[in-house]
Amino acid sequence: MARRRSREKQPSREKQLLNEQLKIEEGIFDNRTMLRIGKLFNKGVLASMEFIIARGKEADVYLADAGEKVGSPLLALKVFRLENARFQNRVKYIDGDPRFGKVKGSVFAIVSEWCKKEYGNLLVAEAAGIHAPKPYAFSGNVLAMEFLGEEGKPAMTLREEELEDPEKTLATVLEDTRRLYAHELVHADLSEYNILLVGGEPYMIDFGQAVHIKHPDASRYLERDIFNILHYFEKKYGIEKESSDVLDFITAPA
Ligand SMILES: Nc1ncnc2c1ncn2[C@@H]1O[C@H](COP(=O)(O)OP(=O)(O)O)[C@@H](O)[C@H]1O
Ligand SMILES: [Mg+2]
Repeated sequence: MARRRSREKQPSREKQLLNEQLKIEEGIFDNRTMLRIGKLFNKGVLASMEFIIARGKEADVYLADAGEKVGSPLLALKVFRLENARFQNRVKYIDGDPRFGKVKGSVFAIVSEWCKKEYGNLLVAEAAGIHAPKPYAFSGNVLAMEFLGEEGKPAMTLREEELEDPEKTLATVLEDTRRLYAHELVHADLSEYNILLVGGEPYMIDFGQAVHIKHPDASRYLERDIFNILHYFEKKYGIEKESSDVLDFITAPA
């Protein structure tokens, strides 16, 4: 008769399921990424993977069931690519930011630094009280954050939606940009693609490239963010605003 392994030594049912899932996903996740996903599982952040929400050049985003450490049933898992990572041209968003040292090392080290930076930037967004996903945890190249969507259905981007009250939405985006700036951060990749609509409210996402206001290019990035947003609202909704007024509003001392 086959000897039964002791209960303690057997991985939990959930862990077995996750391992099976990860094996299925093996074509997508390399070993190091699987290890990091496993770490989030062990920390009680992650329970199981659901489905892929978006496939990007630098990262894929998945819907997942949250573990007991997260106070909500779902989360979004952003998995930064290790192969074909094009992070070299993004190093400029880290170098020059007084919060970080010089970036060097392997692709894994650079990608992990980027992931950590997005996590840190999301913490600043949370402290600023703006509409953005809450960061839960990160490990290496994997970031767990609040899932934006309703009933498991991922939120649409600003680009994909027809706004009921575009003036109000624009005002919220500019107010959040002001609050973020008051917390010494510039998003630096703000556009209709990096804003999701949840319950009619605009949520900023994709904070990897956000820089501290002391970064030498911070004001150029802020002007570009303002340009992108104003240009979109003017083109699509005919709302005209003077960019210099908006810049003054965002950077005015509190
Ligand atoms: N917290 C989230 N909740 C729901 N969907 C998300 C979340 N974060 C990202 N997404 C989805 O994944 C896409 C890519 O995420 P993003 O952070 O913009 O990465 P990329 O660097 O690839 O542009 C988004 O356009 C959105 O559809
Ligand atoms: Mg994006």
